[in-house]
Amino acid sequence: MPIQSIGRSNLYYHESGRGVPVVLLHGFPLDHRVWRQQVHDLSSVSRVITPDLRGFGQSTGGGTFTLQELAEDLYLLLSRIHALPCVLGGLSMGGYVALAYQRQYASTLRGLILIDSRAAADDSDARAARDSLIELARAQGSSAIAEKLMPKLLAPATVDSQPDVAEELMSIMQSCPTATIRHALAAMRDRPDLRPSLSRIAAPTLIIVGDSDALSPPALAEEMHKSIAGSTLSIISGSGHMTPMEQPQLVSRAIKHFLVSLSSS
Ligand code: MLT
Repeated sequence: MPIQSIGRSNLYYHESGRGVPVVLLHGFPLDHRVWRQQVHDLSSVSRVITPDLRGFGQSTGGGTFTLQELAEDLYLLLSRIHALPCVLGGLSMGGYVALAYQRQYASTLRGLILIDSRAAADDSDARAARDSLIELARAQGSSAIAEKLMPKLLAPATVDSQPDVAEELMSIMQSCPTATIRHALAAMRDRPDLRPSLSRIAAPTLIIVGDSDALSPPALAEEMHKSIAGSTLSIISGSGHMTPMEQPQLVSRAIKHFLVSLSSS
């Protein structure tokens, strides 16, 4: 099993294919399995690496962490496995980590992909909601968190027509260790506002968002698109917050187009 020991963590990653490294970071409280279709579709044209962030999936954690530390883990992992420079993409919380990464390691990026994500920090209501979720996780564990999050994650059309996606999403969330859920909620609550850094992003950037994303709505994606010079915005129809799982082929296609544009620029 591909595992690298980084600091006090053992980081798991899945990889397949050859060529330009494309690294995809999962959201919260998820793991590399959200990228199954993209791994299948993109590994014919690139080396696709899908890590489990510290404490998630098959990676072990070592207590509390910040999103910046997750970005540092990633840099050490990718250096170790000779996957730099890379195209780095992130779904939601993975996008927060990708933005933190780009601030510190911009010279190692060939491209940036932000999916159903945002650059703004939590406001006071959102911070209070994180504290309530931390308490819920402490008192009732991962399944209670999964039940609480589930109604906001998928587009109504996905719930009706793709019950298998809802089932898989639920099972991934339920498998996330409770301690990791608490640490990640605190890390997201305390993350900085990265909007001021957007105008300095030099890497070619693709922004993807589901048209029915209730958590990071298209308006936020539009704002990032306006702030990042030369970025491309792809709004995916019939998708909520879990676009790589809800409309997997459309996400793969958008990423493939982006990779082609990188090789011809
Ligand atoms: C995610 O999908 O990673 C979360 O919705 C991010 C967040 O809670 O801010």
